[in-house]
Amino acid sequence: MVGRKVGIVGAGFVGATAAYSMTILGICHEVILYDVVPEMAIGKAIDIGQSTNYSAKGTIVTAAKTPADIKDCDIVVITAGVPRRSEMKRADLLMINAKIVKEVVENVKIYSPNAIILCVSNPLDVMNYVAYKLTGWDRKRIIGMAGALDVSRMAYQIHKKVGFGSGQMRAMVVGNHGQDMIPCPEISAVGGVPLDQLLGRNDMDEIIEKTKEGGAEIVKYLSTSAYYAPGRAISVMVEAILHDSRIVMPSSVVLDGEYGHKDVSIGVPIVLGASGVEKIIELNIPEDKKVKFDQAVASVQESIDILRENNFFD
Ligand code: NAI
Ligand code: 2OP
Repeated sequence: MVGRKVGIVGAGFVGATAAYSMTILGICHEVILYDVVPEMAIGKAIDIGQSTNYSAKGTIVTAAKTPADIKDCDIVVITAGVPRRSEMKRADLLMINAKIVKEVVENVKIYSPNAIILCVSNPLDVMNYVAYKLTGWDRKRIIGMAGALDVSRMAYQIHKKVGFGSGQMRAMVVGNHGQDMIPCPEISAVGGVPLDQLLGRNDMDEIIEKTKEGGAEIVKYLSTSAYYAPGRAISVMVEAILHDSRIVMPSSVVLDGEYGHKDVSIGVPIVLGASGVEKIIELNIPEDKKVKFDQAVASVQESIDILRENNFFD
């Protein structure tokens, strides 16, 4: 299983950091970067390639000149997109990024027809749905990365609160990647000890709020969104697929009746392995959280409806 090819479309901060994380850890044999701005992909491929002499394995890193060069990939990671500018409405950004993802998946269908798609572009759950809808592929092969990042952020907040157990956090976040995400401290643990036996309600509520603000906090300091933790979250998912590790990881996937919803992509725990989504785990969500989960689904659905009203899927 080891030694396979990963394409990354969008060689910006997140795409390049994911590539660096994969190569430094020796997760795959080959990484190929593509960007609509060719210099981005070329420059970063050279720089990352020149770091691999000291990596765990000698990963080959190249730049694609055209989308056709992202061929025969086992996984294609989509990190292409544009950031929101002040004059843009949410719906404008939605349409712009949806068109980018459309263009990307049309090429993936032709040049990497057997790939698993790992979607990262925002708004994540909607873009993952776009990739699913426009490929027409089995939903197992279309996975949105967000939960891997959000649980890692939650683990960071848990550690800040309890002050021990670094590397032993087991956190869970479901719902969409945005303000409606649902961190679940009640089913999180430190080294197997349930979090609610270590912290009181107020502390757990603070962890929920800080996890939800995780992305915004970084934008406040850097004036751009995060990329180290997202890059690592991508590489952990790529590794699970290429090594068929079957890890449990909340990820955005298209539901087909699970959790009472259909034809929408949302974050839920899955088993991640060689086929992509090996299994969707249906958590027993308490009633108050189920209401929030349904609201998160509704907000993703609302964006999908905007795309439909604009004949995006026709
Ligand atoms: P960035 O602006 O640094 O990189 C985006 C790259 O996409 C740019 O280099 C741009 O030239 C390229 N691009 C635009 N259109 C393209 C096309 N049609 N084909 C190929 N490349 C194209 O942005 P950054 O920080 O790397 O973020 C990338 C995306 O990931 C954004 O949508 C961001 O919101 C999202 N993101 C999602 C996270 C998640 O947890 N799902 C976490 C962090 C970022
Ligand atoms: C983040 O959570 C912007 O989705 C990105 O950092």
